[in-house]
Amino acid sequence: MKFFVDTADTGAIVELRDLGMVDGVTTNPSLIMKSGRDMLAVIAEICEIVDGPVSAEVVALRADDMIAEGRKLAEIAPNIAVKVPLTWDGLKACRVLTGEGRMVNVTLCFSPNQALLAAKAGASFISPFIGRLDDIHLDGMDLIQDIREIYDNYAFQTQILAASIRSPNHVAECARIGADVITAPPEVIRSLANHPLTEKGIAGFLADWEKTGQKIL
Ligand code: G3P
Repeated sequence: MKFFVDTADTGAIVELRDLGMVDGVTTNPSLIMKSGRDMLAVIAEICEIVDGPVSAEVVALRADDMIAEGRKLAEIAPNIAVKVPLTWDGLKACRVLTGEGRMVNVTLCFSPNQALLAAKAGASFISPFIGRLDDIHLDGMDLIQDIREIYDNYAFQTQILAASIRSPNHVAECARIGADVITAPPEVIRSLANHPLTEKGIAGFLADWEKTGQKIL
């Protein structure tokens, strides 16, 4: 399973990349706002930091405008994936941009049928939002499972990019179901290393080590 990092914080991306934890990056207008930086400049910097796909999201609502924005974003670097919303216009833009050989990530997916349409429109990635479904008392993980089954039934090549990941359990469940990619904030990726028994084990070993009076270095 590939790890994308869901952030426009270049410092965090570099730290995780150096650990081998970054196969790509996803951004959205809210993350650009949070970075406080110019979108085109920060996306260009991210594309230099990572070799894998970097999602940059259009903000237009009409297909023609999305296509124009998508072309401009794709000019930034060859590893740009143009992110378009899962609307009828977004699907039209997806079809045109993929026809031009560009990677397209169709985002804001909340149903199996929406994922089916994105695959038929030729999307490189579909982004189902797990956390936002959980927020309204639905089960985001059921959506990942449904899309996995549908895509496998027909051998669709669109990659399932599980998004809106908020917890370590989301990551483990996505890996179990077979999502192709997860995208998560840096703090969620870092938290995957945490376990209370690991901390307790270290404390116990160090206490006993002290009693030996030995040193390794
Ligand atoms: O990249 C989009 C997605 O990951 C958003 O997550 O936590 O704002 O629902 P969240």
